[in-house]
Amino acid sequence: MAIFLDTGNISEIKKYHRMGILRGVTTNPTILLNEGVIGGMKGVKTRTIEIAKLIDPYPLSVEVTTNDKGKMLSQALDIAGWARNIVVKITIHGPKGELDNLEVVHELETHHDIRINVTAMMSAQQCFLAAMAGASYVSLLGGRVNNMGYNVVGEIKILRQLLDEHKLKAQIILASTREVLNVLEWLQAGAHIVTVVPKFLEGMIVHPYSKETVQMFLDDAQKSELGQTRASETKVVLAEKNSVKETTFVSGRKAK
Ligand code: E4P
Repeated sequence: MAIFLDTGNISEIKKYHRMGILRGVTTNPTILLNEGVIGGMKGVKTRTIEIAKLIDPYPLSVEVTTNDKGKMLSQALDIAGWARNIVVKITIHGPKGELDNLEVVHELETHHDIRINVTAMMSAQQCFLAAMAGASYVSLLGGRVNNMGYNVVGEIKILRQLLDEHKLKAQIILASTREVLNVLEWLQAGAHIVTVVPKFLEGMIVHPYSKETVQMFLDDAQKSELGQTRASETKVVLAEKNSVKETTFVSGRKAK
């Protein structure tokens, strides 16, 4: 089980990588554009090399930007040569359902020994066939599936069972996170990896009650230095959705 970061933002990658919680990074053309990466493949290459170096030996997924079969193949070969930890991302099919992509995936994995992440998938059946074609990673866009009105958890369970039963090497990446809850729910359902947008990692770490507790420790440490006794009552403010509830409790322990 692993957490990847779904971003092209260097400072976010540095921040979470320093904590030791990342095992990879995923990008796509939209993510890179939103991070201000311009200049076509030249811009993509510069940012890619920077991220790849930062997280080495963990994998960085970088997507091809064409749907022409020949160009896809040569672009993938080019991208894979930028750094040793690059995984090339290829969509399951073209924008009109063109079927060339799995052939390209198969060729790159089996004849060129290049790791491929097949992306833009919404179902277990798409992922299963991508895994059969030889993909190292299959990306199921969980948030987009849920937005269509059904729960991706069912697809994850079916897919994980099939991959295990057929001893396929593909690792399931759950992408397209929409809320903090997605991360553990999708890992627990059978995803090998969830690729998370940075703000949700902060959401997983920070808890309002932890903040209050840490403040209490710091205040009492300060009082201890000043030679005071800790107050026995602490006010804890719990913010819940739109309403704010105030709770007062008597601590079970007294500072000595
Ligand atoms: C990751 O690999 C996907 O490209 C990404 O998570 C898609 O996210 P979105 O559905 O928020 O665009």
